[in-house]
Amino acid sequence: MTDRECVAFLQAVLPRLGLRWLGFRKVHKLVCKRLGRRLKELGLPGLSAYREFLERESSEWANLDRLCLIPISRFYRDRGVFGNLEEIVLPALAGAGRTRRGLLCWSACCASGEEPYTLAVVWRLRLQERFPEVEPRIVATDIDARLLERARAGCYSISSLKELPPGLRAMAFTRQGNRLCIRPKFRVVEFLEQDIRKEVAPGLFDLILCRNAVLTYFAPSLQREAMERVVSRLRPGGALVIGVHESLPEGLAGLEPWPGTRAIFRKRSEEATSRRQDKQMNRGDAERSRTKIKPPGRQARQESDFPFACPLGVHRRQLLLP
Ligand SMILES: C[S@@+](CC[C@H](N)C(=O)[O-])C[C@H]1O[C@@H](n2cnc3c(N)ncnc32)[C@H](O)[C@@H]1O
Repeated sequence: MTDRECVAFLQAVLPRLGLRWLGFRKVHKLVCKRLGRRLKELGLPGLSAYREFLERESSEWANLDRLCLIPISRFYRDRGVFGNLEEIVLPALAGAGRTRRGLLCWSACCASGEEPYTLAVVWRLRLQERFPEVEPRIVATDIDARLLERARAGCYSISSLKELPPGLRAMAFTRQGNRLCIRPKFRVVEFLEQDIRKEVAPGLFDLILCRNAVLTYFAPSLQREAMERVVSRLRPGGALVIGVHESLPEGLAGLEPWPGTRAIFRKRSEEATSRRQDKQMNRGDAERSRTKIKPPGRQARQESDFPFACPLGVHRRQLLLP
């Protein structure tokens, strides 16, 4: 299988999984390697034969979906974001949470636990002293059971810790052979296996990190659907963190950039959101009556993001709500 064949294959099948090629452009070789192994397992000569196999065996789409999971993560990934969380967002949330019992955090699509453990380390070592009465509870979810097993084991190669400031690394990890293992006092994360296309973590959260998964790999209409449900689990005033190279889906209501931060948004109160929507509608009506131009049909635009029938049951109308 050549790279060109693999790219053409992925460009054809990803939309059928509710995924988009753009997200896979830089990491597609990992998926191609796995595809090569799958062809060998099935005894198929190439990707054309695999496409025929997919059309015959609908259960194979679920296997293909798994081959497209990208597990890349690191501790303290995008240091500016963790700097903003430590200096601006977490103190604000902890201050607001003083009258409540805990600070509820969700790391969605958490890979092997690098992100939620980073949060636990930053909290315990940099903020706990200032907010001794606030106890964070961190829930982390991912679709990949093997990654979650690694997360629960909590041991990592040195390379996945290279962005973590050395002071934090020394205090939060112990060496076991050539691996660094997170110390017990930071193992305060509850890991759950969940497909974010169908489920959301239980609870109403103060902080949700949803980075480098939904808004990178999912097709636009699925992004919006998944993010609407994610945001519905954020309490008003709570913070949503996305990847630094990602942007929110068009039309996702109820969020505003958190001042002084990058890739972090604050959820508005419901009244503020509906006031804003009223204002936008009024402005839209006024503009339309001035220009006499009809707005484009949103429904039609979204449907066209799914050029094929979706074989996995991930089409937005079929998503199971919790
Ligand atoms: C590139 S990693 C990002 C990890 C982490 N959020 C970060 O930014 O470092 C993407 C993760 O999303 C998970 N993922 C992909 N599709 C998912 C889905 N439908 N439901 C839950 N997790 C999913 C993958 O298993 C993988 O662990």
